[in-house]
Amino acid sequence: MSDKVKIVEVGPRDGLQNEKQPVSLEDKVRLVNLLSETGVAEIETGSFVSPKWVPQMANSDQVFQNISRHKNVVYSALTPNLRGMEAAIEAGAEQVAIFAAASESFSQKNINCSISESIQRFEPLIALAKSNNIPVRAYISCVLGCPYEGEVSHQVVIETARQMMDMGCFELSLGDTIGVGTAFDVDKLLRDLLKEFSPNVLAMHFHDTYGQAVANTLMSLEHGIRIFDASVAGLGGCPYAKGASGNVSTEDMVYLLSKSGMETGVDLDKLVAAGEFICQAIGRQNQSHVANALRASCA
Ligand code: HMG
Ligand code: MG
Repeated sequence: MSDKVKIVEVGPRDGLQNEKQPVSLEDKVRLVNLLSETGVAEIETGSFVSPKWVPQMANSDQVFQNISRHKNVVYSALTPNLRGMEAAIEAGAEQVAIFAAASESFSQKNINCSISESIQRFEPLIALAKSNNIPVRAYISCVLGCPYEGEVSHQVVIETARQMMDMGCFELSLGDTIGVGTAFDVDKLLRDLLKEFSPNVLAMHFHDTYGQAVANTLMSLEHGIRIFDASVAGLGGCPYAKGASGNVSTEDMVYLLSKSGMETGVDLDKLVAAGEFICQAIGRQNQSHVANALRASCA
């Protein structure tokens, strides 16, 4: 099994989307530029959603237009519908992600439609992406629990995953949106999913609300997963999942992976510096254990 791991840095999108205070365009661009130098494979740079729903992402087009692109980094965007896809292409997104949920209530709260309506909504988006040679990633939220419904059926996760992959998505990111899952839950879910999907197309997207994300990452590694989403400094949360904290920090993820003999290609010091920059810029406490430990050991 390969030792190479792909890190998808989602801080500029999943992280900043949840900040209540406006974050300046300059700070967003600087964050992406600093992350571009760290060696991460992909940066989810923004989203093209309704500004009424997520005001913080309203200027994602300007972020895309002002960043300095690194040749080894893919700059991607989240797109909920055809309109978002058109805007993402216009702004120069190299890859997009569509997002559905494994829970009907979360789907309604997040994108104002049912799971099956969301799948229909994605069809014209994917057709446009294909005609522009833009790869489409798929997210499924709430795979280990829903803030409104509690337990989520693996069957719904699998059925939604099948539909999104059959539509032509190249990768599927499984979101523990509210960070409630444990390694035992991850084990059970992956045992079911891996009957149908190759580990090569699965990514894990852990929020760290209950402090389980590092253990969950390790369990996923054991199942052969080699693609992980993470957010620098543990930024973020979900606007439609009250109390959910940010993703596992990229620093903690990289520390774990490199100590486990995995190859991430990411420079931890540069990553820590990017996290420190954004925390200072927006007056937020750094949520990364590794960044905080390294800072304390230098003090
Ligand atoms: P809607 O209200 O049902 O749809 O929203 P609508 O078509 O009636 O549009 C409402 C308004 O938004 C209209 O403006 C549209 O023009 C506009 P108005 O006429 O009222 O002035 N609009 C748009 N504007 C800009 N870009 C667009 C766009 N589309 C419509 N693309 C919609 C439906 C999907 C648009 C809305 O619900 C929405 O934007 N939701 C996004 C929610 C979101 O971004 N959530 C966070 C990201 S998901 C996440 O974090 C989970 C993830 O990290 C994985 C995990 O952790 O589980 C991915
Ligand atoms: Mg998320």
